[in-house]
Amino acid sequence: MKSFSSPLLAWYKIHKRDLPWRRTKDPYKIWLCEIIMQQTRVAQGLAYYNRFVEKFPSPRALAQASEDQVLKLWQGLGYYSRARNLHAAAKSMKGTFPKTYQEVRSLKGVGDYTAAAICSIAYDMPYAVVDGNVYRVLSRVLGISTPIDSTDGKKQFSALAQDLLDVKHPGDYNQALMDLGAMVCTPQTPLCEGCPLSKMCQARKTGTQMNFPVKSQKTKISTRYFHYIYVVQGKSTWLHRRGAGDVWQNLYELPLIETQSDVLSFKYPQLKKWFGAVPLQQISKTPVKHVLSHQVIYARLYKVVLPPSHPVASGFIKVSTQKIGGYAIPRLVQKLLEQV
Ligand code: ADE
Repeated sequence: MKSFSSPLLAWYKIHKRDLPWRRTKDPYKIWLCEIIMQQTRVAQGLAYYNRFVEKFPSPRALAQASEDQVLKLWQGLGYYSRARNLHAAAKSMKGTFPKTYQEVRSLKGVGDYTAAAICSIAYDMPYAVVDGNVYRVLSRVLGISTPIDSTDGKKQFSALAQDLLDVKHPGDYNQALMDLGAMVCTPQTPLCEGCPLSKMCQARKTGTQMNFPVKSQKTKISTRYFHYIYVVQGKSTWLHRRGAGDVWQNLYELPLIETQSDVLSFKYPQLKKWFGAVPLQQISKTPVKHVLSHQVIYARLYKVVLPPSHPVASGFIKVSTQKIGGYAIPRLVQKLLEQV
């Protein structure tokens, strides 16, 4: 197969983004970057990367942090299991970042993509990355219609990506594909005029860029309705630490009632249990919509003013309102808190 490498690397030399993790060969920092970048775009991820590197410059420093510290630094990125895995992996390193692909791949939270990215970028090992960008670029350039969410598709694209890899410059080649996918071969309105692969691109030839990559199934999205209650009890409020098995594990939030529809009945038994006869005031006029990967949450905020003597309900902690900022809180809850 005709190689992409020369035009791609020539393009990369000129257009590559100047990113801090491209000025290091430290596998620890490259790992941090890859985990953070799975979660966000470069523009937002940069600030998080810089904060993590500054606060935890080594695997040992990260391992010695508390989980709350790590979650707090991760706050706003979402998908908090990634932060917990990051922390657990740092602890498992015993001060030294692993040196072989197998060891890197077996770190908690590191899959094929991340292992390939770290090993190619930090160690120049010949592993091709396969992610959404790569699916898009390869499927368009080669005109491949195998669904990327099928077993066959996954195998086919992995094999192809590995065949096409420039084994002499695996790190640059992989990052060139990432940049091309992020800046030129974008999901909507790709900028084909500026693409180093446009001459050989099958999708461009037939004007079918938007038909690639092919997916066999639409992801099922569920809709949820959250009602958060902001407790005012003197200078304190109540927080609850979320448990396992749902979004935002181990993060803190306000008292929450989830309902099947957008309305919260003030006769809800839980309210009586928590707040006795004290009535709620509705703060949000309209719900705040919060989109996660597999669910859309519509959330509203309410307020309840409790006398100082009112006991804290089981499952909650009473904290100084001023100190809320010190807890790792989901972005949705932060957005709601801006209403009070
Ligand atoms: N996204 C994920 N990893 C990246 C990297 N190394 N450079 C640019 N974007 C990325």
